Amino acid sequence: MTSEALIALGEQVTMHTFNRADKVMVSGQGTYVTDLEGNKYLDFISGIACNVLGHADPGFVAHLSQQAGKLIHVSNLFWHEPGIHLAEKLVNLSGLDQVFFANSGAEANEAALKLARKWGIETKGPDAYEIISMKQSFHGRTMATLTATGQPALQTGFEPLLPGFSYVAFNDSQALIEAVNPNTAAVIVEVIQGEGGVNQLTPEFIETVNQIQDEANVLVIIDEVQTGIGRTGTMFAYQQTALKPDIISLAKGLGGGYPIGAIVAKKDVANHFQPGDHGTTFGGNPLATAAGNYILDAFEERNLLANVQDKSAYLIEAITKLNHPDVTEIKGQGLLIGIGLTKPVADVVKEASNLGLLVTSSKGNVLRLLPPLNVGKDEIDQAVAILAQVL
Ligand SMILES: Cc1ncc(COP(=O)(O)O)c(C=O)c1O
Repeated sequence: MTSEALIALGEQVTMHTFNRADKVMVSGQGTYVTDLEGNKYLDFISGIACNVLGHADPGFVAHLSQQAGKLIHVSNLFWHEPGIHLAEKLVNLSGLDQVFFANSGAEANEAALKLARKWGIETKGPDAYEIISMKQSFHGRTMATLTATGQPALQTGFEPLLPGFSYVAFNDSQALIEAVNPNTAAVIVEVIQGEGGVNQLTPEFIETVNQIQDEANVLVIIDEVQTGIGRTGTMFAYQQTALKPDIISLAKGLGGGYPIGAIVAKKDVANHFQPGDHGTTFGGNPLATAAGNYILDAFEERNLLANVQDKSAYLIEAITKLNHPDVTEIKGQGLLIGIGLTKPVADVVKEASNLGLLVTSSKGNVLRLLPPLNVGKDEIDQAVAILAQVL
């Protein structure tokens, strides 16, 4: 079938939840993907910050194949080696104590919100289930995470939302202080709002988060679904800040493209989940956690964090050097880079893909670049040259 025929069929048999590009992707190699017609694209989206090692990394493929031939799934009625080892790695990397595995970012955040509610109710009182989140945030599409997502446009049509959520403007310390009350269980924040415009927390706001954590006994949940697993140049973005998370949520990069989510929490919080309180059939299954193990090991074996820092500086410098009048700002950290534009970002995304570069957008007319974490300088040169041409 041609792309055109396949897309027509896809439109007929799948729900219209996504505005997909009119390309059918069939294979990938490193930082490149190829469509059905054989066109090659430089992939600076990485499956929206998932494909840490790019496409079809031979070691990753071999590791997954080996695990698939051994044990794909066995359910959480049993223990298995990859799951225990991945949990241990996440504990060691974060300094937090215990892990719960899920299948996606939304599911990870759903677990974080449920855990925070249970903690609040059991330690502060029956009404202490309130959660404060940020305007423009993005935490997922399940009902609890959609409620936590501070974007009314995404919530419209799905009311009633969950009770007990309030929203403060990103980086508005005074609003945060005013939002806290004796029934506040937790605040949920992204260090950089990946979907919401590549906006970064200010040190002043972080100080306020620490203040309410210490003085009002409010849990701090850091949504590291997009920023975690090396994306910003440290394993977790909060490690470059003064934040002291009680719970972090992870997904995206953790599986290198294979679906997995996780929360990692302090023990005195994690203890509030008891057998039967929360669960999942697939979450943290042997294949998914084998993927996670391979990805985390690759950070050490391939010195990936150093590559992120190095290539981040190189990419930012290359974009800055364009000195293009349509670029209003360059923001973000590591290989989560936002470029503010005067031209409509949707046009730039489309034109770039026609010229062989895949990039995406973020709120506020921001172009978002999310190359794989092992991206090379020559690929950055090529991407920036295409961007220059598009702009
Ligand atoms: C910060 C953040 N949290 C949560 C999610 C939801 O993750 P998923 O799409 O895997 O459910 C996303 C997805 O973009 C995200 O960027």
